[in-house]
Amino acid sequence: MRLSGKKILLGVTGSIAAYKSAELTRLLIKEGAEIQVVMTKSAHDFVTPLTLGTLSKKPVFTEFSTPASGTWNNHVELGLWADAMLIAPASANTIAKIAAGYCDNLLLATYLSAKCRVFIAPAMDLDMFAHPTTTQNITRILSFGNCILGPESGELASGLKGAGRMVEPESIVEYLIKALSPDKELQGKKVLVSAGPTREAIDPVRFISNHSSGKMGVALAEEMQWRGAEVTLVMGPSVKAPSNGAIKLIPVVSAADMHAACMKIYADSDIAIMAAAVADFTPGNPADSKMKKTGNNLQIDLIPTTDILASMGNLKKDSQFLVGFALETDNELQNAVSKLERKNLDMIVLNSMKDSGAGFNSDTNKITIIEKNNQTTTPYDLKSKQEVATDIVDHLISCLRKS
Ligand code: CTP
Repeated sequence: MRLSGKKILLGVTGSIAAYKSAELTRLLIKEGAEIQVVMTKSAHDFVTPLTLGTLSKKPVFTEFSTPASGTWNNHVELGLWADAMLIAPASANTIAKIAAGYCDNLLLATYLSAKCRVFIAPAMDLDMFAHPTTTQNITRILSFGNCILGPESGELASGLKGAGRMVEPESIVEYLIKALSPDKELQGKKVLVSAGPTREAIDPVRFISNHSSGKMGVALAEEMQWRGAEVTLVMGPSVKAPSNGAIKLIPVVSAADMHAACMKIYADSDIAIMAAAVADFTPGNPADSKMKKTGNNLQIDLIPTTDILASMGNLKKDSQFLVGFALETDNELQNAVSKLERKNLDMIVLNSMKDSGAGFNSDTNKITIIEKNNQTTTPYDLKSKQEVATDIVDHLISCLRKS
């Protein structure tokens, strides 16, 4: 009963995935949550209010009032009552209306009145999801501080394959359990996370970069936010953006941009985790206009970038906790320990390129954590990047408790 005592508003909109809301309701109730379902009219075409009302043990609301019983379904009270609002499935139409601030049904009025965290699980066909309008709407909704769950890729109701499937009810419930967990060990802590690659311009159209996807840093930023921290994520051009609007995102491009952004935030941070794969070199004289072929070999003068992590290590105050990453191919432990000492870190997370499933662009990682004090070494199994983020944050919290 991991959601015992939690009051959850479940918004259901007109998408074929609404049939999954029945299972979602059942799972939330099984975890001890109190559920109030609010449906749009078009959701009735996909799942009946009777089904969701029976599973949630409460009458479902769709209209602003229920004339038969003379009751007003007070959206303001509903919005204040809830510990969390979950809109699953969220159709393209409802997403657009949320982004624009529309209020033409009970669900939208309740959303606008809600003081709690809001979780939105989009579900639509792939072209609707990929449409720039939807992409912009989702970015806008994230900027309001909401969380977007998914969608996942796979077979869609249309028979097409792609991104647009609603996240499975089991995963939504696990996400909510994490988000609503009372264990907020990092409450009041300001955390800086760096993620992704950097791009070093050769000319206006070409750059040098690496294969980092940003997934590990994003997973860490989200995990730290769930534990109560105030998180700023400085991120190079990555395949994965955070889906948690409570994370302050600072997009950067080059190592110099990342350095400038991180140094501004670091002085006021309690914890910094540098997961970015920062370029070690940058072209010394990037061309102002596109370079033309000459038929000759091209020499590019590469100059070293500033080591952001080492700069932070130099400035580190006793109250600050600094974590670095080391991606190694040989003498892994020895190199990682030397980086830990050289950059004045409290903890270093080692990935070995020799471990399959670890490192860049994969959804999994295999890490070893080395602590500054007595250089305790803890190896972990191959896990998803979300699980690895949980291990890293657990380890970090145990170090903070010891210090
Ligand atoms: N890092 C950084 N700024 C840089 C380079 C690296 O902040 N300009 C950080 C990374 O985010 C990571 C750690 O330093 O946390 C390790 O980076 P890596 O490049 O592997 O270490 P180096 O010290 O550059 O050592 P080497 O290149 O010899 O492996």
